Amino acid sequence: MNCLFVGAGAIAPEYAAGLEANTLSVAGVCDLDGERAVALAEECGCPAFTDLETALDVVDAALVVNLTSHAAHAPVTEAALSAGRHVYSQKPLALDAEAAEKLLEIARRRDLALGCAPGTPRAPAQRRAGRLLADGRLGPVRLGYAHAHVGRVTDWHDHPGSFLDVGPLYDGGVYPLALLVSWFGPVSHVRVADALDVWPDRETKRPTAPSHVEATLAFASGPTVRLTASLYAPHRSREFYGLELHGDDGSLYLRGSGAMGTDPDDVRFGRVGRGYTNAPPQSPPTPYAYADALERLAASVAAGTPSRSGGRRGAHVVAVCNAIEAAAETGGPIEVLDCGAMCEPVPEPVVGPPDRGWHPTETPVRPDSGPDVEPRTTLHPRTDPKPGTRSLRLPPIGFGCSRYRDGEYVDRSDSIATALDAGYRLLDSAELYGNEHRIGDLLAAPGAPGRESVFVLGKVWRTNHRREHLLEACAGSRSELGIDAFDCYTLHWPSAFAHRGELSRLAETPVDRREALTFPEADDGSIETAEIPLSRAWQNLEAAYERGWARSLGVCNVSEAQLETVLDAGTVPPALVQIERHPYRPRQGLVSFCHDRGIRVVAHSPLSAPGLLEEPVLAEIGADHGLSPAGVVLAWNVTSGVVPIPSSTTPEHVVANLAAAATRLTAEECARIGSLRRPDFER
Ligand SMILES: NC(=O)c1ccc[n+]([C@@H]2O[C@H](COP(=O)([O-])OP(=O)(O)OC[C@H]3O[C@@H](n4cnc5c(N)ncnc54)[C@H](OP(=O)(O)O)[C@@H]3O)[C@@H](O)[C@H]2O)c1
Repeated sequence: MNCLFVGAGAIAPEYAAGLEANTLSVAGVCDLDGERAVALAEECGCPAFTDLETALDVVDAALVVNLTSHAAHAPVTEAALSAGRHVYSQKPLALDAEAAEKLLEIARRRDLALGCAPGTPRAPAQRRAGRLLADGRLGPVRLGYAHAHVGRVTDWHDHPGSFLDVGPLYDGGVYPLALLVSWFGPVSHVRVADALDVWPDRETKRPTAPSHVEATLAFASGPTVRLTASLYAPHRSREFYGLELHGDDGSLYLRGSGAMGTDPDDVRFGRVGRGYTNAPPQSPPTPYAYADALERLAASVAAGTPSRSGGRRGAHVVAVCNAIEAAAETGGPIEVLDCGAMCEPVPEPVVGPPDRGWHPTETPVRPDSGPDVEPRTTLHPRTDPKPGTRSLRLPPIGFGCSRYRDGEYVDRSDSIATALDAGYRLLDSAELYGNEHRIGDLLAAPGAPGRESVFVLGKVWRTNHRREHLLEACAGSRSELGIDAFDCYTLHWPSAFAHRGELSRLAETPVDRREALTFPEADDGSIETAEIPLSRAWQNLEAAYERGWARSLGVCNVSEAQLETVLDAGTVPPALVQIERHPYRPRQGLVSFCHDRGIRVVAHSPLSAPGLLEEPVLAEIGADHGLSPAGVVLAWNVTSGVVPIPSSTTPEHVVANLAAAATRLTAEECARIGSLRRPDFER
């Protein structure tokens, strides 16, 4: 679709640059300043104009991109709509709500698309924060604080005049307003507001509108948000465009409501009673581009449904700004026109659609050849390799909840809470770990993710392979965890030990008794095994599935031959295999075997092989990606389509490990890591 750019100032090249990568092209540039128009037009290889009417007559462009200065937005948009063009406007849509409503009316009447900046509610950090909100982590949100510290435009802008005329609301305030409206829907009224004329005496250029505005906004859906928009507070002050929301169950901090970055610490979550934890991306974030909004608008036109939702939100934001000004004069409250603005569903992660609520990850595709060749991965859901087989969609990384650490038992409650707050959505539990009830308490606490957002993996210990014991163990574990069903229930080991009693709450059982129950000794001091073949144990596991106590089944610590036994014995195919996997022991043959059959592989003990994290090659690769050696090992697993489940009791490690899942390594880097393989590696 051809675009006519109107306004060739500082922002225009940013929009034009983005177009190179997509289906839109600049067919003309118009600016009152002829030199500026020509400069951009030459870059775009199109004609330049100084007169809008002529440009609209001459240029065959269905979409006008209005990048003029604040006060010119409404008249330029009106002229373009009246000439039958779809319009995307820089913010604000207009300077008064009446003008904004008129634009919407023209667009509606002529069935034209009308979009309006900012498009940043779709930027990566905002989407991440929005998903946290949509997950219900905060509970009902009642309070918020939003800042828009545009700063001293006379310091940082070459042409500050337009900013000084409109004040901080219409330029900066629109960022948090647009985001909040996209999350909560329209503001119903401005409760109170105040406007100040503060400015350094030494400055000769001064704002003509109030330089600092404070307002308390009531959203129709419930939250009350205090907004501060300022040209006086420097843009390098502690808060820039920070947004903090408080709900009954937790708080959310977003560093920049109008930011476009992908920093891991842009979004933080603190469940009630706990401090903030960084919630980093766990899949490669899609960078924000100005042109994306144009692309979406053009797509709506191509689909025959020209979108005006951005225009409606833009018009409502203008109405809020007008109402704040009125409230600052009268004291408030002032009702706000909703202009048809609505909250918008939070876009899902780009890696694929959600499956029952947890975030998906790449699913592996068939590798090219045999053992020790890294499988390729795809960013799209895979076609099932076998009819009737569907791979589980798992988060890219999970969290190991074992209490066992270097021969000692450690309490994991705090680190599991940190993991949930950071955004881990797969918990690896086991009756052997003895802490299922603690995990259950955390999952039931205010601020925990909803049950459907967390993949709970469980394991029955090897003393419980007999059918009645297995069912009893599964029922006990479900009860301790407070869940109706495991997302995946697995055999902890393929072979069985003798049963000496039930294993509930091992963490609270004296060590001697615990050892006797879990590693039963025969009279000669050796472990007493039980004659329950793997095929039988699997069929017993299937009984839990048949009762609806597990949504899928799996097995840990198997060889390929044992997996064949399971595949032959069962009627429910294994969906997941958990094995020790790290660069010393990549188990590529088994991984490929599983991936070929649509079986997901989970890597336990990914970091704890002695000496692994000191390997120089991991540090070298990490340096290129800003990752620690541990991060490289985790990214290597994720790149291979394997889900690592590191454990950590160090909060910084918990967060950094999650963030590492957003990095993909190159084939060459994976090959270098492959050279660490030690065929004779044993713990
Ligand atoms: N199915 C099975 O038979 C089986 C067997 C073993 C384990 N597992 C599962 O796998 C999970 C993980 O295995 P694991 O417990 O053996 O541990 P691991 O994840 O391989 O390693 C944990 C160790 O690595 C350290 N660590 C973690 N992140 C780090 C980082 N970013 N930088 C440096 N060091 C880091 C931890 O120290 P800090 O605490 O200081 O971070 C800890 O010492 C278990 O919790 C369990 O859920 C399953």
